[in-house]
Amino acid sequence: MSVVEIRKVTTKADLSDAFAVRRAVFIEEQAVPEELELDEFDHDASTIHFVARNAGGQPVGTARIRPYGTSDAVKVERVAVLRDWRGTGLGRRLMAALESEARSTGYRLAKLNAQTHARAFYEGLGYEPRGDLFMEANIEHIAMEKRL
Ligand code: COA
Repeated sequence: MSVVEIRKVTTKADLSDAFAVRRAVFIEEQAVPEELELDEFDHDASTIHFVARNAGGQPVGTARIRPYGTSDAVKVERVAVLRDWRGTGLGRRLMAALESEARSTGYRLAKLNAQTHARAFYEGLGYEPRGDLFMEANIEHIAMEKRL
């Protein structure tokens, strides 16, 4: 299974492809309420979404970044890979794509709230935990960050 492309979302069709992955992963698989999963930042002009597609053009992964707090910080959110594609290096490639975009836009710090089951995934990419565990959408999380 090879992913043909990971790219920034630029069209409505791209965005609905990104949402389709998030719907499958967060709303259907993880039972996150739709009203929490799809939020106001999705349509903010400063939010950058990414979508990964397979050779057939089907969306298989997504993530988004948005400005956060201080001027040099970006928040990484909604990182999702369809179940059949996990463990293929796609999550790593999505993170590399969004970090590269953030860096070239001038951001120097990436922050995220990791579901604790994914903590080791982010640690392997250089993210460090910050503070205590907390609950969000009924899922245990930990804040993490990385200098870009
Ligand atoms: N726990 C520990 N290590 C993990 C891991 C996990 N849950 N998921 C991946 N890794 C490791 C891989 O083993 C691999 O390590 P290696 O470089 O030593 O081989 C590395 O992280 C990269 O893995 P990759 O194949 O790129 O990850 P992925 O495509 O499976 O994507 C997620 C990882 C977390 C994005 C994916 O599992 C997912 O979408 N999960 C459901 C949604 C979710 O929970 N998102 C996170 C919200 S915070």
